[in-house]
Amino acid sequence: MRPRVIVNCAMTADGKLAGRSRRQLRISSPQDMERVRELRASSDAILVGVGTVLADDPHLTIKGLPPESNPLRIVLDSNGRTPSGARVLDARARTIIVTTEECERTWPGAETIRCGRGRVDAARLLDLLGERGVDTLMVEGGGEIIFSFFQAGLVDQYLVFVGSQVVGGRDSPTPADGDGLPEESAVRLRLTGSEVLGDGILLSYEVANG
Ligand SMILES: NC(=O)c1ccc[n+]([C@@H]2O[C@H](COP(=O)([O-])OP(=O)(O)OC[C@H]3O[C@@H](n4cnc5c(N)ncnc54)[C@H](OP(=O)(O)O)[C@@H]3O)[C@@H](O)[C@H]2O)c1
Repeated sequence: MRPRVIVNCAMTADGKLAGRSRRQLRISSPQDMERVRELRASSDAILVGVGTVLADDPHLTIKGLPPESNPLRIVLDSNGRTPSGARVLDARARTIIVTTEECERTWPGAETIRCGRGRVDAARLLDLLGERGVDTLMVEGGGEIIFSFFQAGLVDQYLVFVGSQVVGGRDSPTPADGDGLPEESAVRLRLTGSEVLGDGILLSYEVANG
């Protein structure tokens, strides 16, 4: 069975994941960071796109947890652009880099799965992860990956923290970038919760037709 997919991200009050430089922007309040920590700890795997690895170089681990207790880290990287010194390749947790069948690159310290042609086939990947016992998958971004998961109808829950800053920028990433959907195909969400966490608010949605 496919894992339950929880998309989690933080955006500014004007709807950006980061500023125009695309460098990591601290949007979450301390209370939200604690919530994200708990969500990570309760997930079997955490997934990002290679764009996030290149922009933010995240560890994707939970501080203080030994490698065997950290969730599996997954990077969608069709063409093998993950730098060999990327933090997701450290020994703090297991890592899978998912490329396409055309890509021949491998990384020491990570397993490579080849899945799809041209671009990683996310739906097929979820089937593979389900077979491996991944029940809960947290998708942390960025905007291209989140859009792609919504477009393919793979999202079950969408959690977005709205912070208290405005950064602007027509090219700044947003929670769902990609090519966009035809208006009549907009993904319908059901608001299931809202919670003030420090200087921002967490909005929780289920995907209505997911
Ligand atoms: N505020 C937050 O919560 C948050 C969280 C994460 C990231 N961010 C920000 O988001 C930005 C990065 O976002 P991004 O949109 O540039 O990158 P991204 O979504 O992390 O990665 C996009 C890349 O993933 C690869 N990919 C592989 N399979 C894919 C698939 N099936 N669908 C879509 N993409 C696929 C594509 O490159 P290939 O074609 O080469 O494979 C694509 O360019 C940074 O500015 C970062 O700081 C913010």
